[in-house]
Amino acid sequence: MKAYRASVLYFVGPAQAKRAILETDGLLVVGPDAEGRQVVRAVGAYSQLASQYADVPTAHWPGRIIAPGFVDMHIHYPQVDVIGSPAEGLLPWLENYTFPHEKRFVDPGYSAQAATFFIAELLRNGVTTALTFATSHPASVNALFTEAQKHSLRLITGKCLMDQNSPDGVRDETEQSLIDTETLINRWHGVDRLGYAITPRFVPSCSEAQLRGAGELAARYPDVWIQSHVAENLGEIAWVRELHPQVRSYLNVYERFGLLRPRAVYAHCIHIDDEDRALMRTTGAAAAVSPTSNLFLGSGFFDYAGADRAGFQYGLASDVGGGTSFSPFHTMLAAYYVGREGQSKSGVSLKPQQLWWQHTGGAARALGLEGVVGNLQPGCEADFIVLNPQATPLMARKTAQAASLDELLFAMIVLGDDRLVEKTVISQATEAAW
Ligand code: GUN
Ligand code: ZN
Repeated sequence: MKAYRASVLYFVGPAQAKRAILETDGLLVVGPDAEGRQVVRAVGAYSQLASQYADVPTAHWPGRIIAPGFVDMHIHYPQVDVIGSPAEGLLPWLENYTFPHEKRFVDPGYSAQAATFFIAELLRNGVTTALTFATSHPASVNALFTEAQKHSLRLITGKCLMDQNSPDGVRDETEQSLIDTETLINRWHGVDRLGYAITPRFVPSCSEAQLRGAGELAARYPDVWIQSHVAENLGEIAWVRELHPQVRSYLNVYERFGLLRPRAVYAHCIHIDDEDRALMRTTGAAAAVSPTSNLFLGSGFFDYAGADRAGFQYGLASDVGGGTSFSPFHTMLAAYYVGREGQSKSGVSLKPQQLWWQHTGGAARALGLEGVVGNLQPGCEADFIVLNPQATPLMARKTAQAASLDELLFAMIVLGDDRLVEKTVISQATEAAW
């Protein structure tokens, strides 16, 4: 066992009313569970736990905050170099920057170096679990799983399915794409902490046969994830209507092919109506809210009040490279701005504890991983970050004046970035500190 003494942030309470606790002089005790996984064994006040764990080697980090590692519900590992590519909107951005760039991942060597950079960048930013797109090339998936396995990361990815309306070099072939998907599921899903996601890119890029095949695989492998995009951009939605004129809504196309179920994660969900929201809830599908991407590409604003009214699950995501930053702090701040936009209708803005929960335990819950990652309650896998609120002069000055936990969290959300993250600890890794 190992123990860590510092301020410790974690969440308590029922899912709909989570509260953050900051144990100012806290202790986090980590040790193996019955299966040998390194999990949180105890968390609480140092004064209450110290005598019970007196024999456990303890790292002492005064002035630091231990917090759950962040969970990024939607990110594209092949789009690191696409960040900041200017375009009128989603479709020209895909055509002019994203698809040409993704062609490079046919090369296993290119994929491997991109995977190494990507995972280092996740860890530098305090992200310890991610659901990420690869490209359509199986080599890109193998490269990312291989690198994630080296770091003992909990990571989910999958080969992009895109057999139409996509250029040479990224377009795949229907039957082979489904064979490749099943081969990758059998090779990687459930190995160490890795998970597979069946990944139809979005409706315009997938033939009906490919969507049907994806749905059949999703039924055959019920604990595998599904990830895709829906209702991000008005031009995209008009295109889907042309392709599927008989279907009521964009989301209903996925439903028709059996692609809405628990562990199905749909990025964006911006231009949806209450019928779609009810369908998200009844099927158990989840939304990956990607505010920096939605603001950058001018896609629109996620309707938080609508989501809460319907009661479907959602969490935060960077959506790099439509998104502009790996930093969960930047994403939480952008989510706050988006929430402010919706405030005119709902009258409420997002609170710091809600924002933080949406990028940790709430995102884990939406992924079907509640109690596994995203929190530091006993039994959770012990992935955590160590924050240094003194990392910059302005952060030090501002956080020192925080008179409540909400003020402290909000100061970090507004001013934070990778400088705030001093360490990222993956407890399953033999080399535990980043
Ligand atoms: N829709 C289809 N592909 C993509 C993608 O790569 N990024 C975003 N933001 N939307 C998409
Ligand atoms: Zn995306």
